[in-house]
Amino acid sequence: MQPVFRTVGIVGTGAMGRGIAQMSAQAGSEVLLFDAQTGAADAALSALRDTWQKLLTKGKLGQTEHDACVSRVRLADTWESLAPCDLVVEAIVEKLDVKQRLFADLENLVGPKTVLASNTSSLSITAIGAGLKRPGQLAGFHFFNPVPLMRVVEVIAGLKTDAVVCQQLTDYARQFGHTPVSAQDTPGFIVNHAGRGYGTEALRVAGEKVADFATIDRILKDQAGFRLGPFELMDLTALDVSHPVMESIYHQYFEEPRYRPSVITAQRLAGGVVGKKVGEGFYRYDNGAAQMPA
Ligand code: NAI
Repeated sequence: MQPVFRTVGIVGTGAMGRGIAQMSAQAGSEVLLFDAQTGAADAALSALRDTWQKLLTKGKLGQTEHDACVSRVRLADTWESLAPCDLVVEAIVEKLDVKQRLFADLENLVGPKTVLASNTSSLSITAIGAGLKRPGQLAGFHFFNPVPLMRVVEVIAGLKTDAVVCQQLTDYARQFGHTPVSAQDTPGFIVNHAGRGYGTEALRVAGEKVADFATIDRILKDQAGFRLGPFELMDLTALDVSHPVMESIYHQYFEEPRYRPSVITAQRLAGGVVGKKVGEGFYRYDNGAAQMPA
């Protein structure tokens, strides 16, 4: 089967970008990786190769499929090399003005039919597309971390998004085995709105010293059946990603008190203690596994 998008550009090749790149290559698309930070796209490319090698070793991917996936992904050596893409997905920093600038630059580069997609967790698609000449081509395509394991993806239409664009993204998500869910363009969409209570309230419980974070995690896993406790989840997402999401949802709901972010995460973010990716968050990750802090 032909992929819905023959060539896919990924801008921002961190945790999310590389997962989206993996899915795109596995759907049969040619994938170009671009990142503003020197070496980041190379790191993503080698991480992707490692992932496919592991899947091959475990027998989850055949040799032919493995080789095809590896051959489909390459670095976008220059910004201009994204020009032929049929779809560009951004997974960059969660800042409205930065995303607006990126898409304004992109639409001057790609063809008029290229679909532009944002993996934003919380920002308004309508606002991201506000200054574009072709806002109809922009939609939200919101994945969850880790992308290959979390099989739901939210497809979000802004006020001006063309219906055909959402349909293409929906069809594409099905091609790599995800379940697309249509979400309204509201702060946090479905998951990050409904999930607010999980992190924000747990931070209040910890802040009021009702229980420490490890106890809260244990209880919510053992008694409420969650796969990850709220603090484990924040460590996985990383506070440099999740704290701005908390702030963004709070401000978009006009400072509604129940969404107010926590000074605990603000302070930890300021101190760089952001989560698993730096080896330390609420837990320590000396050998990759979560341990209590010293
Ligand atoms: P990350 O920090 O792992 O990666 C972001 C990458 O974008 C970095 O490599 C950085 O160098 C690059 N970048 C930043 N600004 C750029 C620019 N202007 N142009 C090109 N590259 C740029 O972040 P992560 O976790 O991958 O998140 C990225 C986006 O995905 C954010 O919008 C976040 O809200 C969203 N998201 C994150 C989830 C998570 O659990 N981490 C889940 C769902 C969405």
